[in-house]
Amino acid sequence: MTHTDFIPKQEPKNVELGEVTWQSPSNIALVKYWGKKENQIPANPSISFTLDNCRSTTKLRFSKKIKGGDNFEFDFYFEGKPKEDFKPKIKKFFQRIEKYCPYLKNYSFEIHSENSFPHSSGIASSASGMSAIALCIMDLEKQLFPEISEEYFSKKASFLARLGSGSASRSIDGRLVVWGENDSIEGSSDEYAVEFPYEVHETFKTYKDTILLVDKGEKQVSSTVGHGLMHGHPFAENRFAQAHENLESMIPILKSGDTSAFIRLVESEALTLHTMMMSSNPYFILMKPNTLEIINKIWAFREKNDIPVCFTLDAGANVHVLYPESQESKVLEFINNELVVYCQNGQYICDQVGGGAKKL
Ligand code: DP6
Repeated sequence: MTHTDFIPKQEPKNVELGEVTWQSPSNIALVKYWGKKENQIPANPSISFTLDNCRSTTKLRFSKKIKGGDNFEFDFYFEGKPKEDFKPKIKKFFQRIEKYCPYLKNYSFEIHSENSFPHSSGIASSASGMSAIALCIMDLEKQLFPEISEEYFSKKASFLARLGSGSASRSIDGRLVVWGENDSIEGSSDEYAVEFPYEVHETFKTYKDTILLVDKGEKQVSSTVGHGLMHGHPFAENRFAQAHENLESMIPILKSGDTSAFIRLVESEALTLHTMMMSSNPYFILMKPNTLEIINKIWAFREKNDIPVCFTLDAGANVHVLYPESQESKVLEFINNELVVYCQNGQYICDQVGGGAKKL
């Protein structure tokens, strides 16, 4: 499927009003998306674990305008309160997807959203938030065009989510999700994400992610600015090639359950993402001293106890601690004894690989 397949060709049914609610998870990239082209096309492919507990729940109420207008009409509420400062982001999203959802201007919308994770945790809510809105819009589209298939529904939801925020494209499906075209991954596309199509070892189906909240402040660099820094970056082309190689290397790792190879690849990806930001112009250090303390502690614990636990990072200071479910009690004990001191107000979030978005 390409983007032109996502332009509705039939006449819509008449739908006067309604309400739909979707719950969509966050995700954590193992091979990172960092750098993009026009129209939210990624500069390299990425793969992520879909999370389970970190979710956005979004309700979309819609009613048909008496006269189809020339403007988008919507109100946005976050945790029950009107949130004006989020409206420009949604307006931009509507503008980007209008070509594919020409019915949007015929409705006035009320959007209510809330997150399961603490508001200012420094956890990016764009992946869960944008994918939840995209799913609500697709639910309306399904009412307008009841003949659309399940496959079309989820691919277009991912496609729309991507236009809201790249990583959001990976939050529709469950477990392991690939976004970005790569020759070794059948069905992969730059336009939308797909479930990793090959065999996955049991170990990786129930992986744990404990998110250590090191710095809950505002992001120092927005992801839009961050991705922009890859334009003209002296190492960009090598980095993009490396992401392709790493994604290909993931195929046998995920099949065999080789946690040692997984750890080497995932930690290298996280540090490379930060290396890119440290070597861009302007440059940024997004880790905090406590991020490094945690990394060193994880390495020492892994070495001493021979437990396959590793870290990954987003474009910020928080640390995602990844480990097999079978090691949960030992790793949580380690986190409580040795890592909690490095978290802001001792806060961390326990999560695991999850099955993707759901309709409520
Ligand atoms: C470091 O998806 O937040 O988390 O497309 O500009 O909204 P936009 O960027 P965004 O970038 C996420 C980057 C990352 C790595 C990843 O999730 O792959």
